[in-house]
Amino acid sequence: KEVTVGIDIGGTNTKFGIVDSAGTVLYQSKLPTQKHADFKDYIQELDGAIKYGIEQTPGDLHITGIGVGAPNANFYRGTIEHAPNLVWKGIIPIVEIMQEDFNVPVIITNDANAAAMGEMIYGNAKNMKDFIVITLGTGLGSGIVANGELIYGYDGFAAELGHVTVNPNGRNCGCGRVGCLETYVSATGIKRTVYKLLADHIEESELRGISFHDLSTKMITEAAERGDSVAKAAFEYTGKILGSKLADSVAHTNPEAIFIFGGLSLAGDLIFAPTRKHLEANLMPIYKNKVKVLPSGLQNQSAPILGASSLVVDHLNKKSSVN
Ligand code: BGC
Ligand code: NA
Ligand code: ZN
Repeated sequence: KEVTVGIDIGGTNTKFGIVDSAGTVLYQSKLPTQKHADFKDYIQELDGAIKYGIEQTPGDLHITGIGVGAPNANFYRGTIEHAPNLVWKGIIPIVEIMQEDFNVPVIITNDANAAAMGEMIYGNAKNMKDFIVITLGTGLGSGIVANGELIYGYDGFAAELGHVTVNPNGRNCGCGRVGCLETYVSATGIKRTVYKLLADHIEESELRGISFHDLSTKMITEAAERGDSVAKAAFEYTGKILGSKLADSVAHTNPEAIFIFGGLSLAGDLIFAPTRKHLEANLMPIYKNKVKVLPSGLQNQSAPILGASSLVVDHLNKKSSVN
């Protein structure tokens, strides 16, 4: 049976799965991303875990390719380069190492690009040619599809919307710049906002006294749902910044829809309402009331795996249409 392997490298966990040609995840597992200071040890552990998964999955499996989604991944060079939210600095030649280990095509792209590809192949963008996917996790990722093609850019780093400037005198970003969008709009960003609000105001909040490490977006969401004013204000602020910045993106590629993916998007209207409101308020008249802001159609555990595995599907499709 022909299968692909999809890998999603996140700031906290690496999830991977074995996917059949119908898009069913036959096996899936995860391991911590940042346990090893040396990326070679990490890749070795990952490759071992994949081989174990292949053994555990019934049937005679033939891997046609491996797709990897990762922060700051370069599609052309098969590398991860200077990722702000990963421990390994510099340039990591991940494709070269994995290809040697498995002897099949290994394709890597930015994690959010993979999410966009997944949205197009398995999700809610099946019939769309122009859309943007925003992923909200440790950082903010984006994948832009224009004229039916994922945009890679000249050097392979197109669509890094997490690092557009919101405030030139704002928060420090892991990328070395100041005031990047992801320092406000991401799981980490909203936590920073909660902390700021707690420091600036004396009002009661159930989030007071929780350490930064222990605070989660789920806790902020649940507090807001219970009416906690700090939590509600944090969502309002996050959506406001996201919506206004997305208005700039609309001017670049005129998307039909913007999909929001990841933990924060599960907060529903808490995040979608202010995002839509401030997007509309900042759009030029030619764009008004035309851009849909929607939850991703792939909101579950396996979504990033499907996104990564769809890279292989896309790669093999393109190859067969050339031959
Ligand atoms: C990285 C992106 C990535 C995003 C989400 C950002 O910090 O620069 O490449 O897509 O985080 O992981
Ligand atoms: Na991207
Ligand atoms: Zn940045």
